[in-house]
Amino acid sequence: DWTMAAFKQQAIEKIRAQVGTGKVICGLSGGVDSSVAAVLIHEAIGDQLTCIFVDTGLMRAGESEEVVRLFRDHYNIPLVHREASDLFLGKLAGVTDPEQKRKIIGGLFIDVFDEESAKVGGAEFLAQGTLYPDVIESVSFTGGPSVTIKSHHNVGGLPERMKLKLVEPLRELFKDEVRALGRELGLPPAFIGRHPFPGPGLAIRVPGEITPEKLEILRKADTIYLEEIRNAGLYDAIWQAFAVLLPVRTVGVMGDGRTYDHVLALRAVTSTDGMTADWYPFPHDFLARVSNRIVNEVRGVNRVVYDITSKPPGTIEWE
Ligand code: XMP
Repeated sequence: DWTMAAFKQQAIEKIRAQVGTGKVICGLSGGVDSSVAAVLIHEAIGDQLTCIFVDTGLMRAGESEEVVRLFRDHYNIPLVHREASDLFLGKLAGVTDPEQKRKIIGGLFIDVFDEESAKVGGAEFLAQGTLYPDVIESVSFTGGPSVTIKSHHNVGGLPERMKLKLVEPLRELFKDEVRALGRELGLPPAFIGRHPFPGPGLAIRVPGEITPEKLEILRKADTIYLEEIRNAGLYDAIWQAFAVLLPVRTVGVMGDGRTYDHVLALRAVTSTDGMTADWYPFPHDFLARVSNRIVNEVRGVNRVVYDITSKPPGTIEWE
């Protein structure tokens, strides 16, 4: 893609001009945006960049390992992998309010990130994979009342607190452009095509109290759901698909026994930028297959429902 090749070259020059011989740190989330930002910056300034991956314990099954493999082993980008699940889950214990969850996760993330970057030492710059929609959605709606729908933890107070200058090479791009840039940079297609994943991770897909047991149930169900979506060849037609473990138990029957287990909600939407979205019209046989597999294979779930709400009035995530 000629335009992206040109954009990449310009972005590299801009990064070099901004950073000079300074050190840059970049937080990886496992998502496409921070990954593309990191690879682009690495191409511009090599080992002046160190990536930090804070493992919150709120990732999907196998995702932390994938990030470490890709960056450390494949790209040879200096990477600090900080395992912090106990810390995050400890502080989230008993918390049910969505905004409070987001604030706790955002605050802890900053603490841990700050600690790890201090160990790296001497960084002057902080790189972020902020996109254009992040920039505008964190500001209030034009002409409307100033209302925060959800506090996003990737455009928060990190730079001010750390006294670092920001490097945000994706600030003018939309998601599809970031993907094109990722392809231009040679990132694996499967990685580039990944659905967006929110900073607070699975915490906002477990409404109510988060426990390690609930996270385990959610990971298993989510893995089955996405496996079936891939098998059906639908993954790329969908913007985001995920499961949500509801804090509601319902009565069911299995064999000759009564069950009293969680409800699991499935969500899938199409979108071009995440700002508006439509629910995805799965074929009925697909929904039947996923529901059967989840109820049969995942202990703790005895009922599956499908979310048929678009954005607006719903948001994509449930919290
Ligand atoms: P909502 O739920 O607001 O989500 O319709 C819009 C898009 O943003 C993602 N999302 C987040 N991404 N930090 C992120 O980096 C966050 O705190 C966050 N909250 C929601 C969501 O997955 C969807 O793609």
